Amino acid sequence: MHRALLTVLLIALLPALAAAGKTIYRADQAPGTAEQVEAGKQAFVVCGGCHGAAGAGVQGLAPRLNSPNWLATVSNAYLATTIREGRSGSNMVPWDRGLGEETVDNVVSYIRSWQTLEGIKLDESPLTGDVQTGAALFRDICAACHGVRGAGYAAGVDGIGIGRRGYLSVATNGMIREMVRNGKDKTPMESFTKGSAVIIDDLTAADVDSIIAHLRAQAW
Ligand code: HEC
Ligand code: HEC
Repeated sequence: MHRALLTVLLIALLPALAAAGKTIYRADQAPGTAEQVEAGKQAFVVCGGCHGAAGAGVQGLAPRLNSPNWLATVSNAYLATTIREGRSGSNMVPWDRGLGEETVDNVVSYIRSWQTLEGIKLDESPLTGDVQTGAALFRDICAACHGVRGAGYAAGVDGIGIGRRGYLSVATNGMIREMVRNGKDKTPMESFTKGSAVIIDDLTAADVDSIIAHLRAQAW
């Protein structure tokens, strides 16, 4: 074939080739192979009693793992570390010894296979805002569902233990910002910055940062 014609053809084909390889996963959200997903599905049986067979979660017992924007937010490392180390002070026990590293990775692949949204680029810019303001906002808005000290279910509430070190040591500011600004899809955790008829919805980006600064200052 004529060289020039070949080049023209290739250039015309490039967008189609790029689209075929397009993925919804962020670099730190690599999906597993079909085998890993299947093995993870088998292993997930031990998780389903609390998190629901397909990760739908059970209010006040275990959080939703198939929430669309939450899955698009969390990295594989966040999932693997949480599963391996658990969340001290909650019913989420460490699974590293019980399952072994390979099985933990398979379970991560299975959870990742539920992802439907494109990975969200998180705002990991330095925190602004101040601890005092954040403490007041947390007390007035968040404590009702997460506990006065952020203990979560242990305090008899429906939200998870976002005041504990077990959560704060793995959750980045960008992840927490995404959840508070936009809510956690398909859960009672609504957006606190966007229009809603039923909840306080006018927190500024600085307010959200103040709450995170408060959580980090009081982590226990
Ligand atoms: C006895 C109940 C129980 C079992 C069994 C259980 N979990 Fe959990 N899991 C929890 C609770 C409770 C939390 C939330 C803890 C907190 O307050 O931070 C949690 C949190 C998590 C989180 C973090 C979710 C988030 O929103 O950040 C992941 C991921 C997770 N579990 C995965 C698993 C996997 C995978 C298994 C099986 C290997 C499993 N869990 C087994 C109760 C359970
Ligand atoms: C109406 C009750 C309610 C209020 C008020 C509330 N939350 Fe939540 N929040 C929840 C529930 C329930 C979940 C867990 C959803 C689930 O089961 O997966 C959650 C989840 C979260 C998560 C995500 C944790 C994860 O990884 O799953 C963050 C972060 C969070 N809340 C922060 C806050 C902050 C900060 C405030 C105050 C501005 C707040 N929440 C107010 C109910 C609430």
